Amino acid sequence: MLPRGGTVLVTGGLGGLGRTVAEHLVAAHGARLLIVGRTPASQLPDGSREALEILATVGEVRYRAADVADPDALAREVTEAERAWGRGLDLVLHLAGTPVAPQWERLSEHELRTESAGWLSRMLRPKAGGCAAVDRLLAARPGTAVVLFSSVNGLFGGTGFGAYAAANAVLDGWAQRWAATGRRAQSLAWSMWDGPGMNQGSPLVAAARHRGLALIDPARGTVALLGALHAGVVHLLIGADPENEQIKPFLAADQLRGGTIAVAVVPGPGEDPQRVRSAVAARLAGEGIFARVAVTSRIERDRSGAPDAAAVLAAIGSGGGGYTAPEGPVEELVAGAAVDVLAVPRIGREDSFFSLGCDSVRALQLAEALSERLGARVTVGSLYESPTVRALAATIAAPV
Ligand SMILES: NC(=O)c1ccc[n+]([C@@H]2O[C@H](COP(=O)([O-])OP(=O)(O)OC[C@H]3O[C@@H](n4cnc5c(N)ncnc54)[C@H](OP(=O)(O)O)[C@@H]3O)[C@@H](O)[C@H]2O)c1
Repeated sequence: MLPRGGTVLVTGGLGGLGRTVAEHLVAAHGARLLIVGRTPASQLPDGSREALEILATVGEVRYRAADVADPDALAREVTEAERAWGRGLDLVLHLAGTPVAPQWERLSEHELRTESAGWLSRMLRPKAGGCAAVDRLLAARPGTAVVLFSSVNGLFGGTGFGAYAAANAVLDGWAQRWAATGRRAQSLAWSMWDGPGMNQGSPLVAAARHRGLALIDPARGTVALLGALHAGVVHLLIGADPENEQIKPFLAADQLRGGTIAVAVVPGPGEDPQRVRSAVAARLAGEGIFARVAVTSRIERDRSGAPDAAAVLAAIGSGGGGYTAPEGPVEELVAGAAVDVLAVPRIGREDSFFSLGCDSVRALQLAEALSERLGARVTVGSLYESPTVRALAATIAAPV
């Protein structure tokens, strides 16, 4: 991704994570850096100024004050740097972000429904605005790779971090979009870094660790970064424990709940819908695409013959290929419990619990309700492994 002596734009490169990453790029790869932040060089706080001085003694590093969301300013600085380097831009590392510390003590004000327009815009500016400006840069630089520093909040959401989660989800979307055009693009969704950075001193670290989010020390973070760059996966979660009970629902193989991409598949004649869905989901997940995969009986098309996205979404939103009634006493029992716990009017045999609002708490309630009704233990894990009425019923051997 980065040849020796390659050129890199690092937005937010004097922030906590940016310094570590910049240091590694310069020292280990001989990279030439253009670092961008809003603070004028003469007003940099001591830590950032010292970091810049150290970087400049190790390699070729220039710092320019510019708002990453200002496309003209960003283009100007990059063009000037390219002239000085005598080489085009190899890589954009986009780290610029608004610190979350001010919201730690007032989390309830930062759910999406309580979020202020002002704070939402502050959060979106460096990430959404920054990506739009980077997109303008990339348009004229087809060979330039781009790596975005995102957060697990982009996929998992996060009570009290509504705007921050939205801003990071935007990054994840841009990476998918650039990658879809054949560009080398990645969005790395980190849990929390230890040491300098926007999570330093966070009172929420212990709670986050309990929820399966690791605290990453800078040395391990750098190694993880190198591994991620090497792997080239478009959207990568780093520091989230996939075995944690609170994280599992988001990663259930056939139903990535945090997904913003919906994929509709039509099984061939005689094919098992559940197997088709699992296979498609596994393939997409392998490519780093977080999508909600649904089976449907047909893809509606518009007059021109193109897929009718609205009609397809409406169909899969209501349970894919239409409602199929549960069959036999075990499926009926499973469906009945799911209807009660999930408070939905009905559930078909191929509907996934997780596409009908089953979260970690409801998964626990559903497992308990089923255990009680069946007189045999049904684990939460089995819901994730067999997330439909039909699949779960097939795994239940207890007499009804
Ligand atoms: N730290 C973590 O644990 C963690 C975890 C997950 C994800 N991340 C993500 O990783 C990135 C880096 O985090 P960090 O902890 O290093 O943050 P940080 O220490 O707060 O640094 C953020 C940097 O972004 C710059 N910046 C903010 N808005 C900008 C704008 N509009 N234009 C140009 N520069 C701007 C800031 O410089 P100026 O103030 O001078 O503009 C600052 O140098 C962030 O995007 C963050 O969301 C961090």
